[in-house]
Amino acid sequence: MLASDPQGDPFAVVEQVIVRIPRPEHDPVFSRALGQFVRHVGARDVLELGTGHGGSACWLATGLRLNGGGTLTTIDRDTAPAVTPLLESAGVADLTRIVRTPRSYTSALMHLIQANTTGDRCNPQFDLCFVDGAHNWDTDGFAFFLVEKLLRPGGWLVFDDLDWSYATSLHLSPVDAEVARLMSPEEQSTRQVRDVFELLVRQHPGFDVVRQFRFHGWARKAGPQDSTDASRLIDELEAAGELVGFQNGAQTEPSLTAPAGPWSQSPSGGRRPISR
Ligand SMILES: C[S@@+](CC[C@H](N)C(=O)[O-])C[C@H]1O[C@@H](n2cnc3c(N)ncnc32)[C@H](O)[C@@H]1O
Repeated sequence: MLASDPQGDPFAVVEQVIVRIPRPEHDPVFSRALGQFVRHVGARDVLELGTGHGGSACWLATGLRLNGGGTLTTIDRDTAPAVTPLLESAGVADLTRIVRTPRSYTSALMHLIQANTTGDRCNPQFDLCFVDGAHNWDTDGFAFFLVEKLLRPGGWLVFDDLDWSYATSLHLSPVDAEVARLMSPEEQSTRQVRDVFELLVRQHPGFDVVRQFRFHGWARKAGPQDSTDASRLIDELEAAGELVGFQNGAQTEPSLTAPAGPWSQSPSGGRRPISR
């Protein structure tokens, strides 16, 4: 059960527990927006690519709790940190399915597609997918192809870190440093999540609401209902300041500093909100 909250903030418990997470891997302001978004769209089944230390998982799963229940499926590598203690402290371990994979969530997604295929059709399973993992073209471009199959009509895809690049990351894990080593300098400097979002998601005929706010991308898979209400919702949330995020490090200008991305760590851990 969610612990009681004297301030009336349904995410107060999450605010308390996420202080344990090393910064700047976790963005509490944007993650709160994600948790609220889960509520706004009434999601019941959420997928996260890139669990990290479990911060965003706490917010997403709390959104599910506020909707009356559901399941967050969150995928990371076998080498990712243990997140169950954090999820338990946030009161959402029972809503969270932690999936670990030896190499990449693309293979875990294959298993999900296999498990949900009947005949020659994949039955979509998720209302929302948050992509905050590899941050490279090969992995996340392919992950988009796979997730599209698993996303219900009317479901949402949210991409973090459109401005991240290997070249500006402060620290890469050994496996990701090896991936970067094989890239040309140009590829290392490329904002690869942005390319996935602009060249694959935005151009995909099956997505009817596509928005970018700061360095986050939002896209809705077309559904039986036209996109008017979905467009209005996302525009209203943006106008209300509910889709903002933090920029990592000391600078506030996105072109001058890269988001944390998958593996960077700052000794200072400083974050501050971006002015809108
Ligand atoms: C930035 S962290 C996730 C942060 C988390 N979403 C949050 O906001 O609290 C990115 C995570 O993605 C994982 N990751 C990167 N590439 C991956 C891949 N190909 N398959 C699975 N996990 C991956 C990393 O291990 C890392 O834990």
